[in-house]
Amino acid sequence: MPSGTKSLHFLLSALLTAISAALLGFAMSTNWSKTTMDCTGIGTNNGSAAITMGLFEGLLVRESCPSFGSQSEFLVFAELSSITKTPIILHGLCVCLLALCLLCSVLSILISFYNSVSNPYETFMGPIGVYVCSSTSACLSLLVLIIFALNITVTTMAEELVPSIETIASVLLTNKTSQMQVGYFLVIPYMVLSLGAILLIYLYEHTAYTHRREQERPTEDAPKEIMMY
Ligand SMILES: *[C@@H]1O[C@H](CO)[C@@H](O)[C@H](O)[C@H]1NC(C)=O
Ligand SMILES: *[C@@H]1O[C@H](CO)[C@@H](O)[C@H](O)[C@H]1NC(C)=O
Repeated sequence: MPSGTKSLHFLLSALLTAISAALLGFAMSTNWSKTTMDCTGIGTNNGSAAITMGLFEGLLVRESCPSFGSQSEFLVFAELSSITKTPIILHGLCVCLLALCLLCSVLSILISFYNSVSNPYETFMGPIGVYVCSSTSACLSLLVLIIFALNITVTTMAEELVPSIETIASVLLTNKTSQMQVGYFLVIPYMVLSLGAILLIYLYEHTAYTHRREQERPTEDAPKEIMMY
């Protein structure tokens, strides 16, 4: 097997995974969702409340809700801990799964990088290691996309957070609309790049296999030739 091919495939795989991990790291530090609601208090109409959430920090913007406007930053886990339990469980699950994704990516990078510089005729935890780590990354990140979206749309997290953060008089929150933000969408290229790393190693295995067969064929034929002459 030409060592150049092996080095190249594993190096590119390490590179793709490194880019994906950097994307995910950035995603985890930025906004994930924005939820806006109409807000009706006593004697006032047409108010609104908007919650922008990252994984760890958020911003609540109120206008005429119930009577004044204000902006307040909040810590997501601290505020989620004082409302019903489902949102914090789902949110915590998302963060844990993302941490696992990062860990798997780091492992995949280490395995790929080691193999790109190691003995060209052997692999250390070679293809299998990359397959396991990168496919775990891809699956868990898909799970995060689903769980996070469910938490935003199906639970009453936003409706409960508004009065809880501000301890305001009772308001009626209606017409909830949510938009996912850049952090959420960056998980998709993360997933694609993780699958790309798998594809690269698969291609390496495939060329290695073809090459081995080409090398084996003459030796298989040799005894026949010897018998013939
Ligand atoms: C997150 O959203 C808030 C409110 O919409 C905005 O002010 C802030 O700049 C955003 N942060 C990033 C990193 O985009
Ligand atoms: C609410 O908005 C409607 C139409 O935009 C307007 O006619 C109404 O006066 C507003 N009400 C208040 C209390 O601002």
